[in-house]
Amino acid sequence: MVTKLFVPVCIFLLFHYSQGKVTYNVLSFGAKANGRLDSRSAFLKAWGLACASRNPAIIYVPVGRYLIGSAITFSGQACKSKAITMKIDGTLVAPSTYNAIGNAQVWIKFYRTNRVTISGGTLDAQGSSLWACKSSRKTCPKGSTTLGIYHSQNTVISNLRSLNSQMFHILVYACTNVKLNGVSISAPDLSPNTDGIHLLYSKGVTIWNSKISTGDDCISIGPGNSNVWIEKVVCGPGHGISIGSLGWNAKEAGVQNVTVKTATFIGSDNGFRIKTWARRSNGFVKDVRFQHARMVNVKNPILIDANYCPNNKNCPNQVSGVKISNVVYEDVHGTSATRVAVKFDCKRGKPCTGIRLKDVNLKYGGQPAVSSCSFAAGTASGLLQPTSCL
Ligand SMILES: *[C@@H]1O[C@H](CO)[C@@H](O)[C@H](O)[C@H]1NC(C)=O
Repeated sequence: MVTKLFVPVCIFLLFHYSQGKVTYNVLSFGAKANGRLDSRSAFLKAWGLACASRNPAIIYVPVGRYLIGSAITFSGQACKSKAITMKIDGTLVAPSTYNAIGNAQVWIKFYRTNRVTISGGTLDAQGSSLWACKSSRKTCPKGSTTLGIYHSQNTVISNLRSLNSQMFHILVYACTNVKLNGVSISAPDLSPNTDGIHLLYSKGVTIWNSKISTGDDCISIGPGNSNVWIEKVVCGPGHGISIGSLGWNAKEAGVQNVTVKTATFIGSDNGFRIKTWARRSNGFVKDVRFQHARMVNVKNPILIDANYCPNNKNCPNQVSGVKISNVVYEDVHGTSATRVAVKFDCKRGKPCTGIRLKDVNLKYGGQPAVSSCSFAAGTASGLLQPTSCL
């Protein structure tokens, strides 16, 4: 009698169906919401069942703190499920000592998935012990990216919060069709290499309604990205929205079709920046639109830096590399924290072409700001303050 009753009750506790979807609650697999006992294997068990399910599946993480004590990979390689949603009401937390994840490239990784949605929740990597190590000049691990999406298709990340990553907060690598909506990212101004969202070799990434305060780029767009759409993003502190660094390699995939619309930058180092190494490269940046931005006390509101070479190392002869063309800046207004509010620093061998300025109005300490051009060509129209140097 006992066993007859026990089995169905157990199955009921492990999952239940609703509207054709099956839900796996991580608590049913031994996850502990106390932040102390490692819940990593419980998350993997829930993923395994969700992945094997023939129905769309939900992995549910209730309110509470869940220690994910070492790097974890959710692999979609053998999944039968047509869609998996990870619905998080709680916080996933890394150990406070940096070694636990410091040598893993990624703390929480999704690999070769299709139709995964991550909805809600907080990821707290507790990166401060690693930043302290890095500033003490001891030998420290490089640190891991908090959330990495690799080789995946049709990913949605919504209303997720990421706190205090060791390295990047979110990395999108070799993916197609990724939508990030309502993401909130936060790390201190001086935390090293804590880029908010970094894109590499991906196509069709949309970032929407997000707020990013961090120690490095708010959003950085590396080689091989196309069809990127960024809208309603607030950035600062941080290093701004950057295309780059590009051109480290002689053979490198280019960046094309990037739109950034309705962005606010508050006290950031840069607003819109394109940054390329002064090295030989066949890379390129083309068809970029920066539209409708408000700058509040931003050091370099508009910047193309084709002479990137920190400490003048690794750039033999400072040759020109990446070709930059067809970049539009439209309706950009506010205040610059330095006198040079618009700077196009391009190279003789590969000048920047097709730069278009329209309605740019930037002030510096109540005075007119200035613009500076080298080897940059294009057109200017509308109200321009500072006066165009194109
Ligand atoms: C540019 O990217 C957007 C998405 O960001 C896409 O809708 C559009 O079709 C792309 N344009 C071209 C010419 O590929």
